[in-house]
Amino acid sequence: MRFVDIINKKRYNQELTDQEIQFFVDGVTDGSIPDYQSSALLMAIVLNGMNERETAYLAKAMMNSGDVIDLTSIEGIKADKHSTGGVGDKTSMALGPLVAACGLKVAKMSGRGLGHTGGTLDKLESIEGFNCYLTEEEFKKQVAEVGIAIIGQTGDLVPADKKLYALRDVTGTVESIPLIASSIMSKKLASGSDTILLDVKYGEGAFMHTIEDATKLAEAMISIGNSLGRNTMAMITDMNQPLGNTIGNAIEIREAIETLRGHGPKDFTELCMQAAEIMLMQGKVAENKEEARKMLEEVVASGKAFETFKEMVRAQGGNVDMIENPELLPQSKFKTEIKSKESGNVKVLHSERLGVLAMQLGAGRETKEQDVNHAVGIELACKRGDKVNEGDTICIVYHDEELKPQWIDELYHAFELTDEEVAPQPIIEKVLS
Ligand code: URA
Repeated sequence: MRFVDIINKKRYNQELTDQEIQFFVDGVTDGSIPDYQSSALLMAIVLNGMNERETAYLAKAMMNSGDVIDLTSIEGIKADKHSTGGVGDKTSMALGPLVAACGLKVAKMSGRGLGHTGGTLDKLESIEGFNCYLTEEEFKKQVAEVGIAIIGQTGDLVPADKKLYALRDVTGTVESIPLIASSIMSKKLASGSDTILLDVKYGEGAFMHTIEDATKLAEAMISIGNSLGRNTMAMITDMNQPLGNTIGNAIEIREAIETLRGHGPKDFTELCMQAAEIMLMQGKVAENKEEARKMLEEVVASGKAFETFKEMVRAQGGNVDMIENPELLPQSKFKTEIKSKESGNVKVLHSERLGVLAMQLGAGRETKEQDVNHAVGIELACKRGDKVNEGDTICIVYHDEELKPQWIDELYHAFELTDEEVAPQPIIEKVLS
Protein backbone atom coordinates (compact mmCIF):
# COMPACT_ATOMS: atom_id res chain seq x y z
CA MET A 1 0.00 0.00 0.00
CA ARG A 2 1.35 3.45 -0.88
CA PHE A 3 0.30 6.22 1.48
CA VAL A 4 0.17 8.77 -1.35
CA ASP A 5 -2.66 6.71 -2.93
CA ILE A 6 -4.63 6.98 0.32
CA ILE A 7 -4.10 10.76 0.38
CA ASN A 8 -5.25 11.02 -3.24
CA LYS A 9 -8.32 8.89 -2.59
CA LYS A 10 -9.51 11.22 0.17
CA ARG A 11 -8.49 14.24 -1.87
CA TYR A 12 -10.95 13.04 -4.55
CA ASN A 13 -13.58 12.51 -1.86
CA GLN A 14 -13.61 8.71 -1.97
CA GLU A 15 -14.35 6.44 0.95
CA LEU A 16 -11.32 4.88 2.69
CA THR A 17 -11.38 1.17 3.55
CA ASP A 18 -10.74 -0.14 7.07
CA GLN A 19 -7.33 -1.43 5.88
CA GLU A 20 -6.35 2.02 4.58
CA ILE A 21 -7.37 3.72 7.83
CA GLN A 22 -5.49 1.04 9.81
CA PHE A 23 -2.40 1.61 7.63
CA PHE A 24 -2.59 5.34 8.45
CA VAL A 25 -2.97 4.86 12.22
CA ASP A 26 -0.22 2.19 12.36
CA GLY A 27 2.11 4.43 10.37
CA VAL A 28 1.45 7.41 12.64
CA THR A 29 2.00 5.29 15.75
CA ASP A 30 5.27 3.67 14.64
CA GLY A 31 6.52 6.84 12.93
CA SER A 32 6.81 5.23 9.46
CA ILE A 33 4.53 7.85 7.88
CA PRO A 34 6.23 11.27 7.83
CA ASP A 35 4.36 14.23 9.29
CA TYR A 36 4.01 15.93 5.88
CA GLN A 37 2.07 12.99 4.51
CA SER A 38 -0.10 12.66 7.62
CA SER A 39 -0.81 16.39 7.43
CA ALA A 40 -1.89 16.08 3.80
CA LEU A 41 -4.36 13.32 4.66
CA LEU A 42 -5.65 15.26 7.67
CA MET A 43 -6.31 18.29 5.47
CA ALA A 44 -8.11 16.11 2.90
CA ILE A 45 -10.30 14.78 5.76
CA VAL A 46 -11.00 18.34 6.96
CA LEU A 47 -12.08 19.31 3.44
CA ASN A 48 -13.97 16.17 2.36
CA GLY A 49 -15.04 14.63 5.67
CA MET A 50 -15.53 10.99 6.58
CA ASN A 51 -18.70 8.94 6.72
CA GLU A 52 -19.94 7.16 9.87
CA ARG A 53 -18.15 3.91 9.10
CA GLU A 54 -14.82 5.60 8.37
CA THR A 55 -15.10 7.75 11.52
CA ALA A 56 -15.95 4.76 13.72
CA TYR A 57 -13.08 2.73 12.28
CA LEU A 58 -10.65 5.63 12.78
CA ALA A 59 -11.70 5.85 16.45
CA LYS A 60 -11.33 2.08 16.88
CA ALA A 61 -7.89 1.97 15.24
CA MET A 62 -6.72 4.92 17.38
CA MET A 63 -8.10 3.29 20.55
CA ASN A 64 -6.06 0.17 19.76
CA SER A 65 -2.86 2.13 19.05
CA GLY A 66 -1.83 1.84 22.73
CA ASP A 67 -2.96 0.48 26.09
CA VAL A 68 -6.66 -0.24 26.59
CA ILE A 69 -7.84 -0.34 30.21
CA ASP A 70 -9.78 -3.46 31.16
CA LEU A 71 -12.26 -2.68 33.94
CA THR A 72 -14.13 -6.01 33.76
CA SER A 73 -12.64 -7.18 37.08
CA ILE A 74 -14.65 -4.43 38.84
CA GLU A 75 -18.18 -5.51 39.68
CA GLY A 76 -21.08 -3.44 38.38
CA ILE A 77 -21.52 -0.99 35.55
CA LYS A 78 -18.63 1.37 35.01
CA ALA A 79 -19.75 4.81 33.91
CA ASP A 80 -17.81 7.67 32.38
CA LYS A 81 -18.67 11.19 31.34
CA HIS A 82 -16.79 13.64 29.20
CA SER A 83 -17.19 17.35 28.75
CA THR A 84 -15.89 19.08 25.64
CA GLY A 85 -14.66 21.78 28.01
CA GLY A 86 -15.93 25.06 29.30
CA VAL A 87 -15.37 27.94 31.70
CA GLY A 88 -16.23 27.11 35.32
CA ASP A 89 -16.77 23.45 34.44
CA LYS A 90 -16.35 21.57 37.71
CA THR A 91 -18.93 18.93 36.82
CA SER A 92 -16.80 15.80 37.36
CA MET A 93 -16.18 16.70 41.02
CA ALA A 94 -19.89 16.88 41.85
CA LEU A 95 -21.44 14.51 39.31
CA GLY A 96 -18.97 11.66 39.93
CA PRO A 97 -19.64 11.39 43.69
CA LEU A 98 -23.41 11.87 43.13
CA VAL A 99 -23.74 8.84 40.87
CA ALA A 100 -21.14 6.79 42.76
CA ALA A 101 -23.19 7.33 45.96
CA CYS A 102 -26.15 5.78 44.08
CA GLY A 103 -24.16 2.66 43.18
CA LEU A 104 -22.48 3.36 39.84
CA LYS A 105 -18.76 2.78 39.47
CA VAL A 106 -16.98 5.87 38.16
CA ALA A 107 -13.54 5.27 36.66
CA LYS A 108 -12.61 8.68 35.36
CA MET A 109 -9.49 9.88 33.63
CA SER A 110 -9.30 13.64 33.36
CA GLY A 111 -7.00 16.25 31.95
CA ARG A 112 -5.35 19.54 32.79
CA GLY A 113 -6.46 22.97 31.67
CA LEU A 114 -4.96 24.80 28.74
CA GLY A 115 -6.03 28.25 27.56
CA HIS A 116 -9.30 29.69 28.81
CA THR A 117 -10.80 26.41 30.10
CA GLY A 118 -9.70 24.82 33.37
CA GLY A 119 -8.81 21.19 33.98
CA THR A 120 -10.21 18.79 36.57
CA LEU A 121 -6.75 17.61 37.70
CA ASP A 122 -5.58 21.17 38.40
CA LYS A 123 -8.72 21.80 40.43
CA LEU A 124 -8.34 18.59 42.45
CA GLU A 125 -4.71 19.42 43.19
CA SER A 126 -5.94 22.46 45.16
CA ILE A 127 -6.54 19.85 47.85
CA GLU A 128 -3.30 19.34 49.76
CA GLY A 129 -1.78 15.92 49.09
CA PHE A 130 -4.28 14.88 46.40
CA ASN A 131 -2.60 12.33 44.11
CA CYS A 132 -3.81 12.29 40.52
CA TYR A 133 -1.34 9.61 39.46
CA LEU A 134 -2.40 6.16 40.61
CA THR A 135 -1.14 3.00 38.95
CA GLU A 136 -3.72 1.08 36.93
CA GLU A 137 -4.00 -1.46 39.77
CA GLU A 138 -4.49 1.27 42.42
CA PHE A 139 -7.04 2.97 40.18
CA LYS A 140 -9.12 -0.18 39.74
CA LYS A 141 -8.88 -1.06 43.45
CA GLN A 142 -10.15 2.38 44.44
CA VAL A 143 -13.03 2.28 41.93
CA ALA A 144 -14.03 -1.15 43.27
CA GLU A 145 -13.81 -0.10 46.94
CA VAL A 146 -14.84 3.57 47.00
CA GLY A 147 -16.94 3.61 43.83
CA ILE A 148 -14.99 6.45 42.25
CA ALA A 149 -11.50 7.55 41.29
CA ILE A 150 -10.52 10.59 39.22
CA ILE A 151 -6.98 10.44 37.91
CA GLY A 152 -4.70 11.63 35.12
CA GLN A 153 -4.11 9.33 32.21
CA THR A 154 -2.35 6.10 33.17
CA GLY A 155 -0.26 3.97 30.81
CA ASP A 156 0.20 4.77 27.17
CA LEU A 157 -3.35 5.49 26.07
CA VAL A 158 -3.99 6.31 22.41
CA PRO A 159 -0.45 7.33 21.33
CA ALA A 160 -1.78 7.88 17.78
CA ASP A 161 -4.00 10.69 19.08
CA LYS A 162 -1.10 12.35 20.93
CA LYS A 163 0.87 12.55 17.68
CA LEU A 164 -2.08 13.47 15.49
CA TYR A 165 -3.41 16.12 17.87
CA ALA A 166 -0.01 17.83 18.03
CA LEU A 167 0.12 17.81 14.23
CA ARG A 168 -3.46 19.06 13.83
CA ASP A 169 -2.73 21.90 16.20
CA VAL A 170 -0.05 23.32 13.88
CA THR A 171 -1.53 22.45 10.48
CA GLY A 172 -4.98 24.06 10.73
CA THR A 173 -6.70 20.68 10.95
CA VAL A 174 -8.33 20.75 14.39
CA GLU A 175 -11.81 21.84 13.27
CA SER A 176 -13.23 18.70 11.68
CA ILE A 177 -16.08 16.72 13.17
CA PRO A 178 -14.73 13.24 12.21
CA LEU A 179 -11.28 14.15 13.57
CA ILE A 180 -12.55 15.69 16.83
CA ALA A 181 -15.08 12.89 17.37
CA SER A 182 -12.57 10.09 16.78
CA SER A 183 -9.94 11.83 18.91
CA ILE A 184 -12.25 12.25 21.92
CA MET A 185 -13.95 8.87 21.57
CA SER A 186 -10.73 6.87 21.08
CA LYS A 187 -9.61 8.08 24.53
CA LYS A 188 -13.00 7.40 26.14
CA LEU A 189 -13.14 3.92 24.62
CA ALA A 190 -9.58 3.12 25.72
CA SER A 191 -10.39 4.04 29.32
CA GLY A 192 -12.73 1.08 29.49
CA SER A 193 -16.13 2.20 30.85
CA ASP A 194 -19.39 0.53 29.80
CA THR A 195 -21.41 3.74 29.48
CA ILE A 196 -20.40 7.19 28.28
CA LEU A 197 -22.28 10.46 28.77
CA LEU A 198 -20.97 13.32 26.65
CA ASP A 199 -21.52 16.92 27.68
CA VAL A 200 -21.10 18.79 24.41
CA LYS A 201 -21.01 22.50 25.06
CA TYR A 202 -22.01 25.21 22.63
CA GLY A 203 -21.50 28.94 22.78
CA GLU A 204 -18.83 31.54 23.14
CA GLY A 205 -16.64 29.70 25.63
CA ALA A 206 -16.89 26.36 23.81
CA PHE A 207 -15.25 24.49 20.93
CA MET A 208 -18.55 24.45 19.04
CA HIS A 209 -20.16 27.86 18.76
CA THR A 210 -23.68 26.86 17.70
CA ILE A 211 -26.25 24.30 18.85
CA GLU A 212 -26.25 22.87 15.31
CA ASP A 213 -22.50 22.21 15.27
CA ALA A 214 -22.56 20.84 18.82
CA THR A 215 -25.36 18.49 17.75
CA LYS A 216 -23.40 17.25 14.73
CA LEU A 217 -20.35 16.55 16.92
CA ALA A 218 -22.51 14.79 19.53
CA GLU A 219 -24.18 12.62 16.88
CA ALA A 220 -20.80 11.61 15.44
CA MET A 221 -19.52 10.63 18.90
CA ILE A 222 -22.70 8.72 19.80
CA SER A 223 -22.46 6.78 16.55
CA ILE A 224 -18.83 5.82 17.32
CA GLY A 225 -19.62 4.76 20.91
CA ASN A 226 -22.70 2.74 20.02
CA SER A 227 -21.03 1.04 17.06
CA LEU A 228 -18.32 -0.17 19.46
CA GLY A 229 -20.79 -1.52 22.00
CA ARG A 230 -20.78 1.29 24.58
CA ASN A 231 -24.05 2.86 25.64
CA THR A 232 -23.35 6.46 24.61
CA MET A 233 -25.57 9.49 25.11
CA ALA A 234 -24.99 13.23 24.89
CA MET A 235 -26.31 16.46 26.35
CA ILE A 236 -26.01 19.71 24.41
CA THR A 237 -25.37 22.38 27.05
CA ASP A 238 -25.03 26.14 27.21
CA MET A 239 -21.57 27.73 27.49
CA ASN A 240 -22.70 31.25 26.65
CA GLN A 241 -22.03 32.05 30.29
CA PRO A 242 -19.70 30.34 32.78
CA LEU A 243 -21.08 27.29 34.55
CA GLY A 244 -21.96 28.02 38.18
CA ASN A 245 -20.54 31.07 39.94
CA THR A 246 -16.83 30.31 40.19
CA ILE A 247 -13.87 30.19 37.80
CA GLY A 248 -10.58 28.99 39.22
CA ASN A 249 -9.28 25.97 41.09
CA ALA A 250 -9.84 26.00 44.87
CA ILE A 251 -12.96 28.14 44.46
CA GLU A 252 -14.42 25.60 42.03
CA ILE A 253 -13.71 22.78 44.50
CA ARG A 254 -15.54 24.84 47.12
CA GLU A 255 -18.53 25.19 44.77
CA ALA A 256 -18.55 21.46 43.99
CA ILE A 257 -18.61 20.78 47.76
CA GLU A 258 -21.51 23.23 48.24
CA THR A 259 -23.37 21.45 45.44
CA LEU A 260 -22.82 18.02 46.98
CA ARG A 261 -24.16 19.46 50.24
CA GLY A 262 -27.28 20.70 48.42
CA HIS A 263 -26.40 24.41 48.33
CA GLY A 264 -24.90 24.76 44.86
CA PRO A 265 -25.79 27.39 42.26
CA LYS A 266 -28.99 26.71 40.33
CA ASP A 267 -27.56 26.16 36.82
CA PHE A 268 -24.72 23.94 37.98
CA THR A 269 -26.94 21.91 40.30
CA GLU A 270 -29.48 21.39 37.53
CA LEU A 271 -26.80 20.29 35.07
CA CYS A 272 -25.37 17.80 37.59
CA MET A 273 -28.78 16.41 38.57
CA GLN A 274 -29.95 15.94 34.97
CA ALA A 275 -26.64 14.43 33.91
CA ALA A 276 -26.73 12.11 36.93
CA GLU A 277 -30.28 11.01 36.04
CA ILE A 278 -29.10 10.04 32.56
CA MET A 279 -26.05 8.19 33.92
CA LEU A 280 -28.14 6.26 36.44
CA MET A 281 -30.52 5.20 33.67
CA GLN A 282 -27.65 4.29 31.32
CA GLY A 283 -26.17 2.19 34.12
CA LYS A 284 -29.56 0.58 34.87
CA VAL A 285 -29.42 1.77 38.48
CA ALA A 286 -32.70 3.61 37.90
CA GLU A 287 -35.51 2.81 35.50
CA ASN A 288 -36.67 6.32 34.81
CA LYS A 289 -35.89 9.98 35.51
CA GLU A 290 -38.26 10.21 38.47
CA GLU A 291 -36.69 7.24 40.23
CA ALA A 292 -33.21 8.58 39.48
CA ARG A 293 -34.06 12.07 40.81
CA LYS A 294 -35.44 10.59 44.01
CA MET A 295 -32.25 8.56 44.59
CA LEU A 296 -30.11 11.61 43.90
CA GLU A 297 -32.07 13.86 46.24
CA GLU A 298 -31.72 11.21 48.94
CA VAL A 299 -27.93 10.92 48.62
CA VAL A 300 -27.60 14.69 48.81
CA ALA A 301 -29.96 15.04 51.80
CA SER A 302 -28.38 12.13 53.73
CA GLY A 303 -24.85 13.45 53.12
CA LYS A 304 -23.86 10.24 51.29
CA ALA A 305 -22.84 12.10 48.11
CA PHE A 306 -20.59 14.43 50.11
CA GLU A 307 -19.15 11.45 52.06
CA THR A 308 -18.35 9.71 48.76
CA PHE A 309 -16.36 12.75 47.62
CA LYS A 310 -14.53 12.76 50.97
CA GLU A 311 -13.77 9.06 50.63
CA MET A 312 -12.32 9.61 47.18
CA VAL A 313 -10.14 12.47 48.43
CA ARG A 314 -8.96 10.40 51.41
CA ALA A 315 -8.19 7.38 49.19
CA GLN A 316 -6.12 9.58 46.88
CA GLY A 317 -4.09 11.04 49.76
CA GLY A 318 -5.86 14.40 49.97
CA ASN A 319 -6.35 16.41 53.15
CA VAL A 320 -9.98 15.71 54.09
CA ASP A 321 -10.01 18.61 56.60
CA MET A 322 -10.00 20.91 53.56
CA ILE A 323 -13.18 19.26 52.30
CA GLU A 324 -14.91 19.54 55.66
CA ASN A 325 -13.71 23.14 56.08
CA PRO A 326 -13.30 24.60 52.58
CA GLU A 327 -11.88 27.83 54.06
CA LEU A 328 -8.69 25.77 54.58
CA LEU A 329 -8.32 25.43 50.79
CA PRO A 330 -5.68 27.77 49.27
CA GLN A 331 -6.69 31.43 49.72
CA SER A 332 -5.47 34.33 47.60
CA LYS A 333 -3.62 37.29 49.17
CA PHE A 334 -6.18 39.81 47.92
CA LYS A 335 -9.89 39.93 47.25
CA THR A 336 -11.37 42.78 45.18
CA GLU A 337 -15.06 43.42 44.63
CA ILE A 338 -15.92 44.85 41.22
CA LYS A 339 -18.96 47.15 41.32
CA SER A 340 -21.36 47.82 38.49
CA LYS A 341 -21.17 51.27 36.89
CA GLU A 342 -24.77 51.08 35.68
CA SER A 343 -28.15 49.46 36.37
CA GLY A 344 -29.88 46.86 34.22
CA ASN A 345 -30.43 43.18 33.58
CA VAL A 346 -27.46 40.98 32.74
CA LYS A 347 -27.81 40.16 29.06
CA VAL A 348 -24.43 38.64 28.24
CA LEU A 349 -21.67 37.23 30.43
CA HIS A 350 -18.74 36.60 28.12
CA SER A 351 -17.39 33.21 29.21
CA GLU A 352 -14.29 33.24 27.08
CA ARG A 353 -13.21 36.68 28.35
CA LEU A 354 -13.74 35.59 31.94
CA GLY A 355 -11.86 32.34 31.30
CA VAL A 356 -8.93 34.23 29.80
CA LEU A 357 -8.91 36.67 32.74
CA ALA A 358 -8.89 33.84 35.26
CA MET A 359 -5.97 32.33 33.34
CA GLN A 360 -4.12 35.68 33.41
CA LEU A 361 -4.64 35.88 37.18
CA GLY A 362 -2.76 32.55 37.30
CA ALA A 363 -5.65 30.07 37.59
CA GLY A 364 -4.83 28.55 34.18
CA ARG A 365 -1.89 28.10 31.87
CA GLU A 366 -1.10 29.56 28.48
CA THR A 367 1.59 26.98 27.73
CA LYS A 368 1.80 23.37 28.90
CA GLU A 369 4.89 24.12 31.02
CA GLN A 370 3.29 26.75 33.29
CA ASP A 371 2.20 26.01 36.87
CA VAL A 372 -1.25 27.05 38.03
CA ASN A 373 -2.04 29.11 41.12
CA HIS A 374 -4.76 27.24 43.01
CA ALA A 375 -5.84 30.22 45.12
CA VAL A 376 -6.83 32.77 42.49
CA GLY A 377 -9.98 33.09 40.41
CA ILE A 378 -13.22 34.94 39.81
CA GLU A 379 -16.53 34.58 41.66
CA LEU A 380 -19.59 35.87 39.81
CA ALA A 381 -22.12 37.76 41.89
CA CYS A 382 -24.70 37.82 39.08
CA LYS A 383 -25.65 35.62 36.15
CA ARG A 384 -27.57 36.16 32.90
CA GLY A 385 -31.06 37.50 33.60
CA ASP A 386 -30.22 38.92 37.05
CA LYS A 387 -31.08 42.51 37.89
CA VAL A 388 -28.11 44.66 38.88
CA ASN A 389 -28.12 48.17 40.35
CA GLU A 390 -25.35 50.72 39.95
CA GLY A 391 -22.83 50.08 42.75
CA ASP A 392 -23.80 46.42 43.21
CA THR A 393 -20.96 43.91 43.23
CA ILE A 394 -20.91 42.07 39.91
CA CYS A 395 -17.96 39.83 40.75
CA ILE A 396 -15.20 39.22 43.23
CA VAL A 397 -11.65 38.74 42.03
CA TYR A 398 -9.28 36.60 44.13
CA HIS A 399 -5.72 37.57 43.24
CA ASP A 400 -2.12 37.37 44.43
CA GLU A 401 -0.73 40.29 42.46
CA GLU A 402 -2.05 43.77 41.89
CA LEU A 403 -4.89 43.90 39.33
CA LYS A 404 -3.77 45.49 36.07
CA PRO A 405 -6.05 48.34 34.86
CA GLN A 406 -6.64 46.50 31.55
CA TRP A 407 -7.85 43.42 33.46
CA ILE A 408 -10.42 45.54 35.31
CA ASP A 409 -11.45 47.05 31.99
CA GLU A 410 -11.82 43.59 30.47
CA LEU A 411 -13.89 42.48 33.46
CA TYR A 412 -16.36 45.30 32.86
CA HIS A 413 -16.56 44.31 29.20
CA ALA A 414 -17.39 40.75 30.21
CA PHE A 415 -20.75 41.92 31.64
CA GLU A 416 -23.31 43.40 29.24
CA LEU A 417 -26.47 44.92 30.72
CA THR A 418 -29.78 45.85 29.10
CA ASP A 419 -32.98 47.61 30.15
CA GLU A 420 -35.04 44.82 28.58
CA GLU A 421 -36.11 41.63 30.34
CA VAL A 422 -33.72 38.78 29.55
CA ALA A 423 -35.45 35.52 28.67
CA PRO A 424 -34.18 32.49 30.63
CA GLN A 425 -32.25 29.91 28.64
CA PRO A 426 -32.10 26.26 29.69
CA ILE A 427 -28.70 24.93 30.76
CA ILE A 428 -29.42 21.69 28.87
CA GLU A 429 -30.66 22.36 25.36
CA LYS A 430 -31.36 18.73 24.47
CA VAL A 431 -30.37 15.15 25.19
CA LEU A 432 -29.37 12.81 22.34
CA SER A 433 -29.02 9.06 22.25
N1 URA B 1 -10.40 17.40 22.37
C1 URA B 1 -9.79 16.26 21.96
O1 URA B 1 -9.45 15.41 22.76
N2 URA B 1 -9.58 16.10 20.63
C2 URA B 1 -9.95 17.01 19.71
O2 URA B 1 -9.75 16.78 18.54
C3 URA B 1 -10.58 18.17 20.16
C4 URA B 1 -10.79 18.34 21.49
